Amino acid sequence: MMPSQRIPEPEAMVDDTVEYDQWAQHYLHKVGYSWIRTLLTDGHCPPAPRVLDLGTGTGRLLTTVLEAFPLGEGVGIDLSDTMLEMARAHVQTKPGIKATFCRGNVRALPFETDQFDVVVSFASMHHWQGPLAPVFLDAHRVLKPGGMLVIGDLKRTEQNRLLLNWIPSPSFRKLAEASIYASYTPQELADILAQHPLLSTWRIVENPFAMAVVTPQ
Ligand SMILES: C[S@@+](CC[C@H](N)C(=O)[O-])C[C@H]1O[C@@H](n2cnc3c(N)ncnc32)[C@H](O)[C@@H]1O
Repeated sequence: MMPSQRIPEPEAMVDDTVEYDQWAQHYLHKVGYSWIRTLLTDGHCPPAPRVLDLGTGTGRLLTTVLEAFPLGEGVGIDLSDTMLEMARAHVQTKPGIKATFCRGNVRALPFETDQFDVVVSFASMHHWQGPLAPVFLDAHRVLKPGGMLVIGDLKRTEQNRLLLNWIPSPSFRKLAEASIYASYTPQELADILAQHPLLSTWRIVENPFAMAVVTPQ
């Protein structure tokens, strides 16, 4: 059975980073990055957006998004120097992608107000320690009026737990299990949004494996 309470993971990710990056490319790309890219391309994004990726890790979501907006540019922020080094190396293999990375905490974003056309995130939210609402509100602060915010994550559902049995690699299965057990349920996320007047105007979108909070368009 899926645990009724979250089992949190450590905040900054410094272990198993090479393995993690392989898992991200194989699994998270399908369930998260390409889905978020489609939400953005179907939304109202300018052709050359400035994009912020919260908890960017090895930068795979940011580069996936920028590939759809080749005139855009991005910044990825993360607590882990190990992940950021891999993100910088990864971007060097992608000519034409304009992305930079900085060390920082999503709880105190080092950016001025109204800086970004797009704020994205995937699979980082379940690592954030403490309440989510202040992080959502600070992400909204740095978003330009009318900009689009999509903060996604895996979801702690029984269906996702059952799907773990279909991941053939034991090490990928271990990473996936820890992430799913640390994740929120869609109802937990809805309850958090409902408690704040601004956040209650946001919606939750879902695919079979993942969910995201999205600003109204
Ligand atoms: C599972 S990884 C996901 C990375 C990336 N978003 C992806 O989809 O591959 C979670 C990342 O969030 C970062 N992280 C966790 N808490 C953070 C915080 N408070 N501020 C910034 N980054 C954080 C971790 O260091 C880690 O790199």
